[in-house]
Amino acid sequence: MTTSSTTAADVMIGYAPPGEDIDSSAPGWQDEVRRLAAEQDAVILAHNYQVAEIQDVADHVGDSLALSRIAAAAAARTIVFCGVHFMAETAKILSPDKRVLIPDARAGCSLADTINADQLRAWKADNPDAVVVAYVNTTAEVKAESDICCTSSNAVDVVAGIPAKRPVLFLPDQFLGAHVKRVTGRENMQVWLGECHVHAGISPSDVRDQVAAHPDADLLVHPECGCTTSVLWLAGHGGLPEHRTHILSTGGMVEAARTMTASTALVATEVGMLHQLRAVNPRTRFLPMNPLASCRYMKMITPAKLLRSLREGRDEVHVDPDLAARARRAVQAMVAVGTPSPVAE
Ligand code: 13P
Ligand code: SF4
Repeated sequence: MTTSSTTAADVMIGYAPPGEDIDSSAPGWQDEVRRLAAEQDAVILAHNYQVAEIQDVADHVGDSLALSRIAAAAAARTIVFCGVHFMAETAKILSPDKRVLIPDARAGCSLADTINADQLRAWKADNPDAVVVAYVNTTAEVKAESDICCTSSNAVDVVAGIPAKRPVLFLPDQFLGAHVKRVTGRENMQVWLGECHVHAGISPSDVRDQVAAHPDADLLVHPECGCTTSVLWLAGHGGLPEHRTHILSTGGMVEAARTMTASTALVATEVGMLHQLRAVNPRTRFLPMNPLASCRYMKMITPAKLLRSLREGRDEVHVDPDLAARARRAVQAMVAVGTPSPVAE
């Protein structure tokens, strides 16, 4: 059945009405996406956790820092952000004069939901001298209350750049915070007890089981994972091969995969990551540490919704200009720190 807005071409390429999905194996929908993107002067950005079809049709695929940098420098009039809402919101903060679209504005983030602006204001009131470092996985309201943002690829550099005598409030991810504290050796740093349900669910027992099944594998571990602390403890105590254990952002994993010589690598992060890793290194077998580690918010962006987004201009992201101006200082400070992460074109 077709709706009045569904054309014969839609049926041919398998484009279904909003709310339904297309058969992404049907030929032609990618051409329609590219045609519409050219017509709309739109650049399509996709996070490494997007479904493979979205990654393959996008102009750029990368981690949250790399995509923020591209959004800040984009020449196109429209940015279509295939990721979760805080990522599209960050693009809008960086490029307020551009139209920013996300194919489904309901694509949230359980980690960003663990702290709101009132909670942060109360925390700051108890620690008036502290520098607030907010992971980019936060709302614009929380960013506006923060001194500097960071992503997993530059969190260590951001904290290391803060004068040693200034206390630090790090939010919202407790596992990334613990990792940064460990690497920088910083004692005067408090960490908010937030977590991402997907990464927290990758447990030390998953690591033990998978390493036992694949004893020669390299390990790629995202610092948001619930297993990070025990992975490092095991690596430091002979339970894991230290030189083959890497704690990396999603962009860092792609970089590491390019030159990897191991026959197998175990990947502790959201399963969408495997697509880029396998694309850059077909010699290594990349296996998920936990195959159930799938972010339902990332997976809300589908080919049908991307087509709808380009056709109907939805869902447009708006950020109050005053709020955006306050949040921009912290986001721009983040973009300036750390080496650029790799991006797939
Ligand atoms: P990256 O910054 O490594 O892309 O991670 C983003 C994210 O949402 C992790 O869950
Ligand atoms: Fe948020 Fe976790 Fe999904 Fe990343 S994987 S977008 S942190 S819920």
